[in-house]
Amino acid sequence: MSRESLLSYTLTARYGDAVVLRGVSGTLARGEIAALVGLSGSGKSTMALALQRLLQYRGGVAEGSIVLEGTELMGLSGRGMRVVRGRRIGYVPQSPGLALNPKVRVRTLLQETWRAHEDRRMEPGFAENVLGRVQLPGDREFLDRHAGELSTGQGQRLLIALAILHGPSLLIADEPTSALDAITQAAVLRLFADLNRESGTAILFISHDLLSVAGIAHRVDILHEGTVVESGPPTKIFGEPEHPFTRALVEAMPRRP
Ligand SMILES: Nc1ncnc2c1ncn2[C@@H]1O[C@H](COP(=O)(O)OP(=O)(O)O)[C@@H](O)[C@H]1O
Ligand SMILES: [Mg+2]
Repeated sequence: MSRESLLSYTLTARYGDAVVLRGVSGTLARGEIAALVGLSGSGKSTMALALQRLLQYRGGVAEGSIVLEGTELMGLSGRGMRVVRGRRIGYVPQSPGLALNPKVRVRTLLQETWRAHEDRRMEPGFAENVLGRVQLPGDREFLDRHAGELSTGQGQRLLIALAILHGPSLLIADEPTSALDAITQAAVLRLFADLNRESGTAILFISHDLLSVAGIAHRVDILHEGTVVESGPPTKIFGEPEHPFTRALVEAMPRRP
């Protein structure tokens, strides 16, 4: 794929003496969907946080290099990083139940997220429009609802709306469909693919589930024991897995009876 590079990184990350990522490197082209797949505890969330320079809030230390659109993020101040996180990197966490205050209205969540990174007011109709892009109703009744009154699927769509509010060039989604039932999961995966096609936002889609990412990812990186052991398009990962760990993952996938 000869697309323009958006992100390239090499990261080592540890909690105290426990090294979780051992010089993991990767790249993401503009508009690409890359999936990072690994077992539970393999360091996926560590990666999601380290790429946004948030690992210290979880008691970890990350070293290395993260170049986003030509800027070395490791050299930025805290203030500089806040601007990057709001506007250039959108982050979709795993569970709406933990990420959304249930007592706050949808309208307020959108406005607060907007104001965190913009001085000007939100244009009229903007909130309705962004809700439409994640296939949520944009009417007054929905904007007045409290986050706690939404279904899990609606909450996850709202988290995606908040993450794309400022039109980021990169979306990091950490297991964004793991809390959803199979049908809602498929719909939210389609939504990520649609957003990618419509706006060209690159997506780093993190998941423990190889099968669920196969349909939307252009490339899959397999994370195992602190390094990426294999990387390639889904057809190659499924058709000709090379690394023993990748083979084990593919063989462990459920088959239809
Ligand atoms: N704050 C922490 N302190 C110590 N160890 C941690 C901390 N957070 C995560 N870990 C450990 O780091 C490893 C990777 O965790 P994580 O990145 O959350 O994995 P994943 O998201 O792939 O399930 C795990 O072994 C986990 O126990
Ligand atoms: Mg995780």
